Amino acid sequence: MLILTRRVIFWSLIVLFVIHSFLVFTIGTEEDKGETLLTKDALNGKLVYQKYNCTACHQLYGLGGYMGPDLTNVMSKQGIGELYVRAFLQNGTQRMPNFHLSEEEIIFLVAYLKYVDKTGISPVKKFEINLNGTVTQK
Ligand code: HEC
Repeated sequence: MLILTRRVIFWSLIVLFVIHSFLVFTIGTEEDKGETLLTKDALNGKLVYQKYNCTACHQLYGLGGYMGPDLTNVMSKQGIGELYVRAFLQNGTQRMPNFHLSEEEIIFLVAYLKYVDKTGISPVKKFEINLNGTVTQK
């Protein structure tokens, strides 16, 4: 009897392990984390962003310098968007330097900022703590 119970428990655990693994590696990982959005232009934009050290003054995903505003969602922010960002990049302001970027560099930067916008929210204002301890952004 004892051996039978042990076997039942053992095989139940094996079956649960297989079901759990299946769920984790199918449904659990099916979310698009933005890899497909990192186009060639966006990737080049990342290099331009690094070349001019934009991060010295700006944050992406909440990380970076604090002299300028966080740029994570600058592309979808109401009243801002692509044309506004282009104006900043072409001319600078009294507080932001004009880097004399080429048209190509601006296209790359815009593509990169669009990619960043789709892959993160910063600062996180609304979130919910789930029963299993994970956090979902709203
Ligand atoms: C020396 C610091 C500094 C550097 C380096 C810098 N910026 Fe800025 N940036 C600023 C400041 C300060 C502002 C706000 C300026 C203002 O409102 O007059 C700003 C504003 C902006 C804005 C408008 C954001 C908004 O929400 O209004 C964008 C877009 C931007 N910067 C992009 C960039 C990019 C891309 C780079 C790199 C090529 C860069 N910046 C490098 C200081 C900097």
